[in-house]
Amino acid sequence: MAKIECPKCNKVIETTGLVTVCPDCGQDMRGVMERLGSIDEDNRPKLGRNDSMTTHEYIVRTRNLWKVYQMGDVEVPALRGVDIDIRRGEYLSIMGPSGSGKSTLFNMVGGLDKPSEGSCFIEEVDMGQLDAFELAWLRCRKIGYIFQSFNLIPVMTALENVTLPMIFAGMTSDEMLERGQFLLDVVGLGDRLHHKPFELSGGQQQRVAVARALANAPAIILADEPTGNLDLQTGKEIIELLRRLNRESETTIISATHDLKMIDVSDRIVHIRDGQVERIDNRADIDLKIGTMDGQEEV
Ligand SMILES: Nc1ncnc2c1ncn2[C@@H]1O[C@H](COP(=O)(O)OP(=O)(O)OP(=O)(O)O)[C@@H](O)[C@H]1O
Ligand SMILES: [Mg+2]
Repeated sequence: MAKIECPKCNKVIETTGLVTVCPDCGQDMRGVMERLGSIDEDNRPKLGRNDSMTTHEYIVRTRNLWKVYQMGDVEVPALRGVDIDIRRGEYLSIMGPSGSGKSTLFNMVGGLDKPSEGSCFIEEVDMGQLDAFELAWLRCRKIGYIFQSFNLIPVMTALENVTLPMIFAGMTSDEMLERGQFLLDVVGLGDRLHHKPFELSGGQQQRVAVARALANAPAIILADEPTGNLDLQTGKEIIELLRRLNRESETTIISATHDLKMIDVSDRIVHIRDGQVERIDNRADIDLKIGTMDGQEEV
């Protein structure tokens, strides 16, 4: 629960979510929310933020989430009533065959697309109720995104790619440079700051993408097949890096994957099939020797 004060009428508002206007006098509260959400290095972990405003046990909840794509006259149901509760600080893997709805689920949780029906809550804030400004704020401050194809901007250096999201969070140039270098150091690329993506290996590009995801110290990292384009060893390194970030900064990691190595580091595995949750395994319950399945090397 955060307390914010209206600069005009001094009303104190207790909130667990985003407030854009004062309920009493209608004053624009976005500046106040900006300052509340800005990174205070003294009080918050450097890599991610465990919690900025709330202490809810579940950082993400979905309720009866449906997504039906319309392809001409044909309706393609990609998600069919998904209910998931994700705990703060959890490392959660989402597994399922190609086309089962993993990326669609990510787009809903990450606020990149809207569900056809149902709700997705981030720290109990219903994303469907947010206006464009609030949604942009939430995406910028709360969530870091990692994609299979890295999605770096080709004409920008590693450092510029990592600092780009910081511009939207209103950091100064000096803060951006310092934090960008710090994050690239964390991912082991302190000596590659000025390389452009084509001058980096696939694994290095994904490391830049991990550093970029951490730009604004997110509470949640959404990783869609982060090892999908990497060889076995490099994929393992990225998984270990994510696990380290998860442990050290208590950032919640939600990762879609086909990669069995991911099971080894996950707290829970959600299996989805045909747009529905098939079952959820707890790490503790899994008696699985990685590497004996799917013909993969032992790790
Ligand atoms: N923009 C879209 N328009 C129409 N149908 C779509 C769209 N995006 C996804 N789909 C369909 O929704 C279903 C789920 O797709 P999704 O991309 O979520 O699967 P996935 O589990 O991420 O698969 P993969 O493991 O191959 O990445 C598929 O049948 C797909 O064809
Ligand atoms: Mg996908």
